[in-house]
Amino acid sequence: MSRTATLTLDGKTIELPVFEGSEGEVGIDITQLRAQTGAIAYDPAFGNTGACKSAITFIDGDKGILRYRGIPIEQFVDSPNFIEVAQLLINGKLPAQEELVRFRARLTANAHVHEGMRHHFEGFPPEAPPMAILSAMINALFCYDPHFSVESDEEFEDAAASLLSKVRTIAAYTYRKSNGLPFMYPDPNLRYCGNFLHMMFSMPYERYEVAPEVEEALNLILILHADHEQNCSTSTVRVVGSSRANLFASVSAGVCALWGPLHGGANVAVMEMLDQIHRGGLAPEQCIKMAKDKSSGFKLMGFGHRVYKNFDPRARVLKDSCDKVLAKLGKKDPLLDIARKLEELALNDPYFVDRKLYPNVDFYSGIILRAMGIPLNMFTVMFAIGRMPGWIAQWKEQHDDSSVRIARPRQIYTGNKLTDYVPLAKRK
Ligand code: CMC
Repeated sequence: MSRTATLTLDGKTIELPVFEGSEGEVGIDITQLRAQTGAIAYDPAFGNTGACKSAITFIDGDKGILRYRGIPIEQFVDSPNFIEVAQLLINGKLPAQEELVRFRARLTANAHVHEGMRHHFEGFPPEAPPMAILSAMINALFCYDPHFSVESDEEFEDAAASLLSKVRTIAAYTYRKSNGLPFMYPDPNLRYCGNFLHMMFSMPYERYEVAPEVEEALNLILILHADHEQNCSTSTVRVVGSSRANLFASVSAGVCALWGPLHGGANVAVMEMLDQIHRGGLAPEQCIKMAKDKSSGFKLMGFGHRVYKNFDPRARVLKDSCDKVLAKLGKKDPLLDIARKLEELALNDPYFVDRKLYPNVDFYSGIILRAMGIPLNMFTVMFAIGRMPGWIAQWKEQHDDSSVRIARPRQIYTGNKLTDYVPLAKRK
């Protein structure tokens, strides 16, 4: 017999279908709730709402588990290859050798941006935030390819490769523009991460030699950010996509959602916090005290998560990698010691323990990005490059599901009852 949940409202009882996901997660189907009772479910911030069924990423926040298409993220650590992970997320399976080669060729063929687009960069002021430029330029991509189609597998693969490849070029150009540096064209002989580093740091008269350690570290960072099921930016991509908006427009909206300091922007906020402590402006103990004081408006950035009530597995990997990466790069970073001190204080403080607040992905990622020479204002852009496969995969999964309707939440109205219009002359 199929399982149901029973709801009684104003003496009327209804049965709501119950279903299970492949890892045993239980969902109560309330799609007929309003039709049957006249009431709606109230769940601001969607903490208890499943907005879709998805086969892409699995998270168990209580156990600290994150899997891409069933594979634990820890298994990608020793042989990181961001493009393989991107194909896994987007296509649902790891690519065979010839699929990888074909996709790589598509990435290379799509690495450039239209020359006309290069002039768009001129319109931004020097201080323009890179996330604003990134979002605007991704949206502008559609203007240069208005007939793009994703209906056949071939077309979709080309669109996905185009977006993955061009976002890297746009991100590097954003940095070059804000520093008054000449744009460097992509090099077809370099792999995904190496090519990005080349476009960021080479000069026309001096080529940047991509160190394998830096390329490997970047690969790892991108992989760990590649998807995270229905977070704020991914939900944004799906909401925009549900109106049948194109892939570029949907992803461009995702970039805006990611920008906020409670989401992807936290990696910048963490480094600013650590730097402030390092420069003596704030003691770690004082930082913890302020974070516990709600009236301070201060949060321990890089701590806490809506879903993880245990260590964020991405933070665990990054914490372990920090020492390794810094040693390989021959660097020391006092901010790492400060981060460790803050973590130790927080994990022994009842405020954080009781609320199950642990370090999240942003707590340690900045230290690795900094060691690689990535400037602070590009940190959230790096998150966006990493998240691109996830956004594309989620957009595609929704696009292919013919049962999907436009996202349109309801509300509980709390404003005036029926009120008459008062002409200006009679208003007090
Ligand atoms: N510092 C101090 N207190 C915190 C923090 C923090 N970083 N995070 C949560 N709390 C408190 C919060 O005030 C609340 O306390 P109380 O129960 O007394 O009201 C309790 O912990 C539960 O928190 P919440 O605000 O209900 O949690 P949420 O699920 O709404 O928010 C969060 C999750 C990530 C936005 C939040 O933990 C936060 O603001 N953290 C700092 C920003 C950050 O690091 N963001 C990156 C998230 S991971 C990357 C990504 O996927 O975006």
